[in-house]
Amino acid sequence: MLQKSIQEALNKQVEMEAESSQAYLAMASWAEIQPGLDGVTEFFYQQSNEERMHMLKLIRYINERGGFAVVPELKQPIITFQSLQRVFEEFLKHEIRVSESINELVGLALMEKDFATHNFLQWYVSEQIEEEHLARTLNDKLELVGDDKSGIYLFDRDIMLFRPKEGGKK
Ligand code: FEO
Repeated sequence: MLQKSIQEALNKQVEMEAESSQAYLAMASWAEIQPGLDGVTEFFYQQSNEERMHMLKLIRYINERGGFAVVPELKQPIITFQSLQRVFEEFLKHEIRVSESINELVGLALMEKDFATHNFLQWYVSEQIEEEHLARTLNDKLELVGDDKSGIYLFDRDIMLFRPKEGGKK
């Protein structure tokens, strides 16, 4: 049985993953109506799906442990962006916030001696290392590219190569 404090914290994380999924869906939709950003569009649609999977994994865990996973109400994410750079800056900021939240959860699980939850969360710890690294790499590349249109063209063409292969995760 989950302790109340752990259940509440896990449900907050459910909300955060749902917000991530929404935020990346909005980025995908914005990218889709920009000319020539097919790669970025696909990247964020997939990223959004992945965040939904992170949310589902938490929901299933909370319920499996005798808690109650609450499907959260969500506020509208940022839906328009001044530039491609702004999209990826937001992506990185978001992933850093998620990592901080996971770290707090891990700390709480240890403090409450909930070793099952601590063990469960290790998957998220590894995932966040990967996601933050990906977001930083893409920001670094965009910084190199600046406003150069052919650079943006190549960035968009190659972006999916940077995503970890689906089979290599989970
Ligand atoms: Fe599930 Fe990218 O945080």
